[in-house]
Order: sequence, then structure tokens, then C-alpha cells
Amino acid sequence: MTIEPSTTSDERARLLCARLDRPVVLVGMMGVGKSSVGRKLAAALALPFADADDEIEEAAQMTIADMFERFGEPSFRDGERRVIARLLGEAPCVIATGGGAFVQEETRALILQRGIAVWLDSDIATLVERVKRKDTRPLLRGGDPAEILARLKAEREPFYMQAPIRVMSENGPHADTVRRIMEALDQWL
Ligand code: S3P
Repeated sequence: MTIEPSTTSDERARLLCARLDRPVVLVGMMGVGKSSVGRKLAAALALPFADADDEIEEAAQMTIADMFERFGEPSFRDGERRVIARLLGEAPCVIATGGGAFVQEETRALILQRGIAVWLDSDIATLVERVKRKDTRPLLRGGDPAEILARLKAEREPFYMQAPIRVMSENGPHADTVRRIMEALDQWL
């Protein structure tokens, strides 16, 4: 079924949602807006929203920064994979993942098997601007955020590219990004 251009946006969202049989999983760099866009996308589709980072903190009863400091990144990645596997077992929903999740082989395989991965992408300048809003990211501590983000983006792009859908999330209202994701999902499904 294709969406007719004359249908209202609510009706379009309803038709799209009816065709979704798996969670929509947002992947991409820190600061690209996965959580904010994900929340708005879920609201537009009338689906539940889950932020994997929040769920990990809830399950571990500690912050991600503390997890990195006390147990190291591999332990965090292990918890991240388990939490994402749990979220992927649920009915259609929208899941925002942390920037490194899709880089981990097993986690990426789970997402590709059980979800629809959407790579939210933007240029480095936009990421640098957006990460300034939150100073809790352990990987950005102790260095120049622009350099770290540029290095990580270059390392991670070959993995993000494996997502079947890529949508740009540049400056501008998140509502525009949400609309582009819905159009991309409509075409892909
Ligand atoms: C990370 C990104 C963070 C969080 C953790 C590690 C990464 O999530 O999962 O600090 O490896 O890029 P956001 O992408 O939501 O900032």
C-alpha cells in the first residue's frame, strides 16, 4: 500500500504505523539528536519510545559515566547489548541507541535482524554544537570534542552505512527530520 499525497499527516502516520512490524532503531553519532528526534517520531507514529542509554542506566542503577569509570567500556557495551536485545523483543516502537551501539558487531547484528535501522547523520559542526548541551559523555571528556567527534565519525561510518535507511539531521526543526524519516520508512517498507 502506498501513501496517497492527499491524505492528512495523521492519516499518513496511521497508515505507516500499520505497516511497521518491527521496532524502528535510530543509530548514529553522539549529538545527532537520536533521543529528541526519536521521541518526536514515536509521538507522530503513536508508538512507545525507549532510550537505550536511559534503560541501561536504569538497569544498572548508575550513570553511564560511572559505568565507564568503574567497570570500563567493554562492560558498558555488554550491558548495552543486553538492554537493546530486550527492547528489540518488544512490539513495534521507536528506540534511540547510544552512538557506539551499532558499531558493536553483535549489537548491530541484533538490530539488523530484529529492527529497522535508521542512520541519523549530520556534519561535524552540527554535532559539536549539539554535544555542548550535555557534558556527561565519557568519550568526550579529556579532549577536544571536535577532534574526537571527527575521529569517531570517520571510524564509525563504515558501520552506520550498514543501516538500510540514512536520513540527514542538520540544523533546523526536528519535525523536519521526523518527516524525512517517515518518508524514508514509507519508501523502504
Ligand atoms: C556513546 C554515546 C552515548 C553513550 C555513551 C557512549 C558512544 O550515547 O551511549 O556515552 O560510544 O558514542 P549518545 O549517542 O546518546 O550520546
